[in-house]
Amino acid sequence: MGVTALILAAGEGTRMKSTLPKVAHRILGVPMVEYVVTAVRAAGVERIVVVTGHGADVVESLLAGTDVEFARQDEQLGTGHAVMCALETVGELTGPVVVLAGDVPLIRAETVAGLVQAQAASGAACVVLSALFPDPTGYGRIVRDDTGSVMAIVEQKDLEPGHLAIAEGNAGIYCFDGAALGAHLHRLEASNAQSEYYLTDTVALMVAAGLGVEAVVSEDAEESYGVNSRIQLAEVAGVLRKRINEGHMLAGVSITDPSLAWIGPDVEIGRDTVVEPMTFLMGRTGVGEGCLLGPDTRITDSVIGAGCTVDSSIVIGSTLAARVSVGPRAYLRPGTVMAEGSKAGTSVEIKNSHVGAGSKVPHLSYIGDTDIGENANIGAGTITCNYDGRSKHRTVIGDGAFVGSDTMLIAPVEVGPGAVTGAGSAIAQDVPADALAVERTEQRTIEGWAAQRRDKGQGDE
Ligand code: UD1
Ligand code: CA
Repeated sequence: MGVTALILAAGEGTRMKSTLPKVAHRILGVPMVEYVVTAVRAAGVERIVVVTGHGADVVESLLAGTDVEFARQDEQLGTGHAVMCALETVGELTGPVVVLAGDVPLIRAETVAGLVQAQAASGAACVVLSALFPDPTGYGRIVRDDTGSVMAIVEQKDLEPGHLAIAEGNAGIYCFDGAALGAHLHRLEASNAQSEYYLTDTVALMVAAGLGVEAVVSEDAEESYGVNSRIQLAEVAGVLRKRINEGHMLAGVSITDPSLAWIGPDVEIGRDTVVEPMTFLMGRTGVGEGCLLGPDTRITDSVIGAGCTVDSSIVIGSTLAARVSVGPRAYLRPGTVMAEGSKAGTSVEIKNSHVGAGSKVPHLSYIGDTDIGENANIGAGTITCNYDGRSKHRTVIGDGAFVGSDTMLIAPVEVGPGAVTGAGSAIAQDVPADALAVERTEQRTIEGWAAQRRDKGQGDE
């Protein structure tokens, strides 16, 4: 039967001290709740319902366009109440129901799948993930009887003296039998220290009804670590960064200093690529084999072909074919396409442009809204004047063209294939193929002028 997951994300996250709802905070560029959704989906869950409340619009917009459904919990009356709200929205659930919080970004798909399997195998009304936390303070505790059977979960604030020695904490991730959950949820009462409807109280209710409840001790307590503050946000980012970097290194990527490489969860990297320190690879980025990235480089939402070099540069929303050379200090903005073997060199900015195979923009240029053919050379300091203050215009540079240094290309304008522009020219008219266009006043040379000035001494300065 199809598994449904309920992700509880209606809480405010007061300790974040933020206008953003807690689960919207980003880790390696990805909102916290998305890690949980991804893990749950990878565990084979069919239907995902996120319970939103505080900042619901923000959380829902982050997940818009996916198959995730939403249920609103306008007033946060506890985790049990959050599940009630979910069931009110999606209706009765009879299959397995996974419940977990949206603030546990370290959760692994295998762990969720393991709970689902354990519930299916035992037929228990509820299988809860527990953990032997080094310090269980703050967690609900798993109360077992003499035979080891789970009897109840008691919240920190409701602990009685007899519970103080319990080291087994509730990790807050469950797989319920949907029918049993539905049958016991409405019996919850808020008669506890926090006057909340605790989801955890369903355990004692189920046990009292003669249903089985099991607790599976997690092998890695870190996985259920919840983020409540920005300090924990940074801690979790460190754990995820290490996990992701190790995955790449095991797959054949060299990371010179893994503590100084920040790679998002959706980034793919080919073998024998080297990631140098202070390099950030984010968003939907794919890197081919044998690239050298960094040091001091940021690449977001881009495709980098095999054998590329990106040195001390920023690349956003760009596509690089094989053996492209970028930097140092280049800035490739969205819509840049660099064909095979092309170059964007020192302090070059390119946006919304196509640079043809083998073409070079080696130094100090701005190329915007431009199509450059193959094997063209763009001289140092060339600027495409693409914006007249009202609209953007395109520049076209043909195959094999040679644009002299410090050329201003006043768009819309076209430099034909094989054409040459003289250094320092402001080109506002199309240049035919194989022509030379020079636009500058003739040079005046006055023989001996400098020597005469020297002879007159400093007085004239
Ligand atoms: C909960 C468990 C506790 C467990 C711990 C693990 C309960 C009563 N207690 O405690 O046993 O050890 O998780 O981390 O379930 N939420 C809502 N609506 C609400 C209340 C909470 O959506 O009305 C969401 C929160 O946004 C959060 C999650 O549920 O993501 C957990 O809620 P929280 O109040 O933090 O529960 P804990 O006190 O951590
Ligand atoms: Ca919590």
